[in-house]
Amino acid sequence: MPLDGKPIRRSKRPWKVAVIANIKDEEHPKPEGVPPDAFADFDHIETVDALRAAIETDSHTTVFIEADRELPYNLRRVKPDICFNIAEGLGGDAREAQVPALLELLAIPYTGSRVLANGISLDKTLTKRIWRDRRLPVAPFQEFTFGDEPLRPELKFPLFVKPAREGTGMGVDMKAIVKDEAELRERAQYIIGVYQQPALVENFLPGREFTVGILGRADAKQYGRHPEWYEKDGFHRFPILELDTGNSEGPWVYTNEAKSKDVGPEGNPGFFCPAKIDPELEKKLKHLAYRAHNILNVLDVSRTDIRLDEEGNPRLIEINTLPGLTPNYSDLCLQAAAEGIGHTDLALEILYLGAGRWGMLEPRELEETKKNGK
Ligand SMILES: Nc1ncnc2c1ncn2[C@@H]1O[C@H](COP(=O)(O)OP(=O)(O)OP(=O)(O)O)[C@@H](O)[C@H]1O
Ligand SMILES: [Mg+2]
Repeated sequence: MPLDGKPIRRSKRPWKVAVIANIKDEEHPKPEGVPPDAFADFDHIETVDALRAAIETDSHTTVFIEADRELPYNLRRVKPDICFNIAEGLGGDAREAQVPALLELLAIPYTGSRVLANGISLDKTLTKRIWRDRRLPVAPFQEFTFGDEPLRPELKFPLFVKPAREGTGMGVDMKAIVKDEAELRERAQYIIGVYQQPALVENFLPGREFTVGILGRADAKQYGRHPEWYEKDGFHRFPILELDTGNSEGPWVYTNEAKSKDVGPEGNPGFFCPAKIDPELEKKLKHLAYRAHNILNVLDVSRTDIRLDEEGNPRLIEINTLPGLTPNYSDLCLQAAAEGIGHTDLALEILYLGAGRWGMLEPRELEETKKNGK
């Protein structure tokens, strides 16, 4: 992996690891003028604590640094060897890319995707344009900047309207499904006005919903703590998780309200993991997620959401380059658990993949390389 001309550093383990996150502030009222579900994608401090505990089992020291406007100063004070980045960022059109951009500027290693992949994947319209260009299946879509743009003929009611650049089901409730022009215009104006960003309008996908987690990289076997997890291509595909959307808050849609609740209580979608699907569909979904991940230059970890259209064909919805890592709660953790991978091992693997990429680890000598005498 190129290091952009920066010197390779092989910082001796244990490392000083800073977990960088935006934390939900539930004690203070939200500032005026923000959407009702603003900050829904921020983390609870318990998630940070769980990551720190996981990292400390490998004898590293950890510190939490909030991804707020003091971050640049705190980074210079703390001087971490590497950052475990789960920060969603604050405002702007590429908030998930803010922390990676700052860390690149300060030449501090960090986990997961870099600036471009984090920025593009937050923008669902740009993401889908890139996928479509490479012939990956997506539902017909159109971005509305003003709300009164003429609807393109390939878009057919019912349509689905959501903010182009949010996560965690923000701006998604049962009114996201619109069945005629009047509802479309009303919803598009609402999204544009309240979320201060374009509305993404797509054909409504009525079929089953899956999320596919990926871990790894072409050279993951050389740097991961668990080389045995990775297939020949260096990637690990987690068991597919299917959302039982029939049970969700509103039928068919995994809304912000549904996402914010703990797994189990009424109103929250149940899930099946591993999903009960035929092997052919499973192979297709895993292949699509793998391509979706690589085409965008996503690194090390991701979760891709896919739904079936009316003919049962999979269509990519979006990719999460910073998938939630709350133990026993976030989809990726549930997927890992379904095959016996615990939170500690998952977190450490992400850390090691990141560290390997920044030249902080000696590459492991692989059996194949030994045999070939290379
Ligand atoms: N075109 C569509 N047709 C039907 N349902 C859709 C469509 N797009 C999104 N949804 C529903 O809305 C939910 C949220 O959409 P999406 O995954 O794009 O948003 P998100 O808020 O970024 O999600 P995440 O929590 O995974 O970050 C999906 O999980 C799905 O249930
Ligand atoms: Mg999603």
